[in-house]
Amino acid sequence: MPEKFQTPRGFKDILPLEHNFFTLIKKVARHRFRQAGFLRISTSMLENLEVFARGIGADTDIVSKEMFYFESRSGKKMVLKPEGTAGVIRAFIEHGMQSWAQPVQLYYFEPHFRYERPQKGRFRQFWQCCAEVLGARDPLVDAQIIILAWKIIKDLKIADSVSLQINSLGSPADRAKFIDELHNFFEPRSRALCDDCRSRLQKNPLRILDCKNEDCQILVKTAPKLSNFLNDDSRKFYEQVLQFLTDLKVPFVENENLVRGLDYYCDTVFEFQTNSDGAQNAICGGGRYDGLCEILGGPATPAVGFAFGVERVIEEMKKKNISPPEKDFTQIFVACLGDVAQSECLKILSDLQDLGIHVRGAFGKSSMKSQLKTADRLGAQFCLILGDVEIREKNVILRNMENGEQENIPLDEVQKVIAEKFPPQKRDFYNLEI
Ligand code: HAM
Repeated sequence: MPEKFQTPRGFKDILPLEHNFFTLIKKVARHRFRQAGFLRISTSMLENLEVFARGIGADTDIVSKEMFYFESRSGKKMVLKPEGTAGVIRAFIEHGMQSWAQPVQLYYFEPHFRYERPQKGRFRQFWQCCAEVLGARDPLVDAQIIILAWKIIKDLKIADSVSLQINSLGSPADRAKFIDELHNFFEPRSRALCDDCRSRLQKNPLRILDCKNEDCQILVKTAPKLSNFLNDDSRKFYEQVLQFLTDLKVPFVENENLVRGLDYYCDTVFEFQTNSDGAQNAICGGGRYDGLCEILGGPATPAVGFAFGVERVIEEMKKKNISPPEKDFTQIFVACLGDVAQSECLKILSDLQDLGIHVRGAFGKSSMKSQLKTADRLGAQFCLILGDVEIREKNVILRNMENGEQENIPLDEVQKVIAEKFPPQKRDFYNLEI
């Protein structure tokens, strides 16, 4: 027997039922993005390693351990994108978006790849739904982007188990001073830190602050506070963001230990977290990244954005028994026997599809009994039955699959009869205005 294959570890197929969630989330988010004037972008799946090494920071977990990295045939260092922001900035620079109306507001719904240890809520391929505003430094923009994420959360009906955690990281200079102080504080106490934090102490002491280990948490309580290092401009900026959120009644919790895992952030950082236990409770993370464009060789372009983890949002919806609408149902099944009937079947299928009916036909050469069984399995409301005799008499049998009642209808009245059974609101139309 030839070997059978499975999806690689940390990867999964998205089957039709799961796609109903993806479609709903994409639709909800897209409406909100469009209302706020965002335009869709898709950046390339593969990027130059340097886009992320420089953009996210060489010492971050994402860059140091989690990138799907390979060398191209010509020896170029390439990665599957582990996140979207650095790629969007690369595209902003490459396509000269600084000449567009500012700020440029973009959204995307894309898969990303991180070589993490797979566990609940953590995959090697995962989808993000993101927004980025490029070209404005204004607390109003930060508030608008947070409100946008909050509206999506409310539309998806998961708001009551989600809390917005917010913090300010200040300027890069503030952060550098704070990191020095943190280092000085934790160095003599490093024996009390967990293994991960002992290595973070050397590479990225900020991440000790959001470690979930109890011993580390105890130490963090007495560690220096980032708020004492903020410059006046950052402090004022942060207070204004909080004021705007308060004015629009967006509930938030200030969390001094929220630092985020990517180095490009400055000033506002935020996460929407679910109240479930465990490390993977962030369903959305974001913040301001004013310096990233220059780091990647572009013009000074202050920016802010967020990313939802789509699988984590779905998990939360499932926990609350929220199901997306099922739109992939079969309304009519066309069963047929005989060669002439088969060619008539194709015409009926095509005509009914143009009417906006979800209709499927019996393809292949199975018996009438097994065709009706298929119609039943598909949950079809009606079955149109065509045999060579019916076709000769220019008739079709219409069978109601719920009660088994059957009627004969003239072949040339099929569309009219079906249209009466399915008024326009029960049909599937889309507006193809080009
Ligand atoms: P991030 O916090 O790395 O931020 O990811 C955002 C969200 O993606 C997380 O809150 C989580 O829901 C989801 N996520 C991350 N890693 C995984 C994984 N391995 N499996 C499943 N879900 C995951 C960013 O990526 C930034 N680019 C966000 C941003 C946009 N900041 C500014 N603009």
